[in-house]
Amino acid sequence: MAQPRVRKAVFPVGGMGTRFLPATKAVPKELLPVVDKPLLQYAVDEALAAGCEQMIFVTARGKGALEDYFDIAGEMVATLTARGKAAELAVLDGTQLPAGDIAYVRQQEPLGLGHAVWCARHLVGREPFAVLLPDELLWEPANPCLKQMADAHARVGGNVIAVMEVPAEHTHRYGIIVPGQADGALTEMTGMVEKPKAGTAPSRLAAVGRYILQPEVMDVLSQHKRGAGGEIQLTDAMAELIGIQPFHAWTFGGRRFDCGDKAGHITANIALALERPDIAPDVRAYLATL
Ligand code: G1P
Repeated sequence: MAQPRVRKAVFPVGGMGTRFLPATKAVPKELLPVVDKPLLQYAVDEALAAGCEQMIFVTARGKGALEDYFDIAGEMVATLTARGKAAELAVLDGTQLPAGDIAYVRQQEPLGLGHAVWCARHLVGREPFAVLLPDELLWEPANPCLKQMADAHARVGGNVIAVMEVPAEHTHRYGIIVPGQADGALTEMTGMVEKPKAGTAPSRLAAVGRYILQPEVMDVLSQHKRGAGGEIQLTDAMAELIGIQPFHAWTFGGRRFDCGDKAGHITANIALALERPDIAPDVRAYLATL
């Protein structure tokens, strides 16, 4: 049966980003660059590549720079045009979305990822939607993670969650799935648990910040049940629907950088710099001196 296309993408971007203080006093963590592109732009590009057309940002107090980022930078465009800077203008153009394709909603209190997603419920409506956590830079430019998931979703429908294997000693940091039958990269899910205590994880397959979800998850989130860390967890809401709706994990085979973490962010910068012909030789030369 043909599955409805995933048109809407939700980006929870309300977090304070305390791990990147003092930079995040003034700059939302989602605008920190990897090489020269903000983290958020990587996530938006991934959503576009997967066929999403409407971007929904769940933002918060003090993060207005995120909204400015997606505006047309009129003065800059005028100056660059006057100076004939075609390459720079093309870069700006590449960040522009059609008018009306971005919506912002505010999360008034930091009550958890599930709550952030729930804040988007009216904008999402009753159709399947994607959730992308921009801290997680999933890198496979030729076939981005959410595109792979959307293709899988077109075949199996229901809910599709991106996972990757993590070391056993890291499972307590993630949402961990209970795997059922596997068919290539696609694994049936029979359960999911948020941040399991050391030694209790049902597998080493961790959610890595990309989800295709059915709208019913919003109904579960409406109950505002508190889970791990006293927060309203997306994982718990999904877990309630497993067995009622189809849930599959999609094992992402590309590279992942946890850019919510300083070391992960720096690693991403180095890795992506080494893929850029204009700067790779200098970066490589420096690394060779270490
Ligand atoms: C969130 C989710 C978790 C997921 C992780 C991926 O946790 O709750 O299930 O594995 O993102 O980065 P957070 O890192 O916000 O604590």
